Amino acid sequence: MRANAETGTAEVELELRHIRQTYARPSGEPLLVLDDINLALHDGEIVALLGRSGCGKSTLLRIVSGLVPPESGEVLYHGAAVAGPADGIAMVFQTFALFPWLTVLQNVEAGLDARGVSEKDARARALAAIELIGLDGFENAYPRELSGGMRQRVGFARAMVVDPTVLLMDEPFSALDVLTGETLRSDFIDLWMEERLPIKSVLLVTHNIEEAVFMADRILILASNPGRVAAVLDVPLARPRQRLSSEFRDLVDDIYERMTAGPPPSNVIQPPAALASLATNLPIVSAISIVGMTDVLASPPFKGDADLPALAERLHLGGVDLFHLAEISQMMGFAELHDGSLHLSNAGRALAEADMAERKRLFGEHLLRTIPLAAHIRRVLDERPGHLAPRSRFVAELEDHLSTKDAERTLNAVIGWGRYADCFSYDTLNLRFTLEDSAASR
Ligand SMILES: Nc1ncnc2c1ncn2[C@@H]1O[C@H](COP(=O)(O)OP(=O)(O)O)[C@@H](O)[C@H]1O
Ligand SMILES: [Mg+2]
Repeated sequence: MRANAETGTAEVELELRHIRQTYARPSGEPLLVLDDINLALHDGEIVALLGRSGCGKSTLLRIVSGLVPPESGEVLYHGAAVAGPADGIAMVFQTFALFPWLTVLQNVEAGLDARGVSEKDARARALAAIELIGLDGFENAYPRELSGGMRQRVGFARAMVVDPTVLLMDEPFSALDVLTGETLRSDFIDLWMEERLPIKSVLLVTHNIEEAVFMADRILILASNPGRVAAVLDVPLARPRQRLSSEFRDLVDDIYERMTAGPPPSNVIQPPAALASLATNLPIVSAISIVGMTDVLASPPFKGDADLPALAERLHLGGVDLFHLAEISQMMGFAELHDGSLHLSNAGRALAEADMAERKRLFGEHLLRTIPLAAHIRRVLDERPGHLAPRSRFVAELEDHLSTKDAERTLNAVIGWGRYADCFSYDTLNLRFTLEDSAASR
């Protein structure tokens, strides 16, 4: 296992002191992109710089790598000022940045070209990097013959071949499809945990909250206009990390809240997409509060549109609670979350305008259509002769995918909604579902 950098005794690999950068806007006016960025990157840690697009992340990495000098401030690598590309610092780019006319092996060797390594050594080191990154067998392929995931592996191999101690990554997974990105992230973390990589520290730039929580030991949240460090968070989760665990989700929610509070964001940050499966981890949000939220959202001053902070204040909810409420409302099709605000959908408006009985009917209809677990429970009850099913049966099913705690909570959330809408009944004494008091013939 990796030594933790938190002890304070770990060596500082890289230090950023008071970095500031200004560009000229097309109009010629100055644009302050980075303002007083400070960071010490220690031996043994992965630090994520998390921020919306346009907040200056790539600018900062270009400065750190020595490609561009900052307007003021300095970058120190092992205590010495960086002025131009430094030997121990390598970078992986979002766009892979491969030479299309070179093979995989030649692309990886190219990283060593300028370093005065003999041809024989270069070949041996490139082959070793290729094997480490899982590209063996593809040495003679050209980039165009490779999938996106394999191309980015070449990007990694090319960075590793120079034996860097610091790896800079600029959104290295964001050009890949979801599953490929997932595989590459996990493979990278495995190599990191096994200490098979030459690198001692990683600075990862991303706009993806889940990626930051999955990968990093520490997360710096960058604010935009100008780019400033708005918050620094430790990620105390053991690896490998479980995305669906409540600790993981809580941290994602916390960061989401920090990033959506304050002035409306200029850019979209979506909540984690609901997994279209039974075992979607669901928060406890009462049906009454969902219906009540559509009421408030439909009424003045919002009239169908509300910034999250304003809505949180109006509903007397904390950010995380509001986020859960917004997330569930979106899943059920009553509202849409984008640009940091919540918009009432047509179904949400119908819900707000309906009378009590119609609200229950509408809610039930959406529940069974959008929450697979609710539909599953209902289907099981419909099919059983006595229209009875024990709670334990569903918990067991959910536990294939969720922790016990999450399974219990998810089931409780759905029980609350199903009871409100009379989709099914739940007997708290005998811990079983029934269709007794519900509109079983519906
Ligand atoms: N060379 C440049 N000249 C002028 N403006 C630039 C230049 N590079 C980036 N910018 C501007 O600086 C801001 C930050 O860009 P960038 O560092 O690419 O952000 P990020 O990587 O976080 O998306 C953006 O507003 C961008 O338009
Ligand atoms: Mg960028």
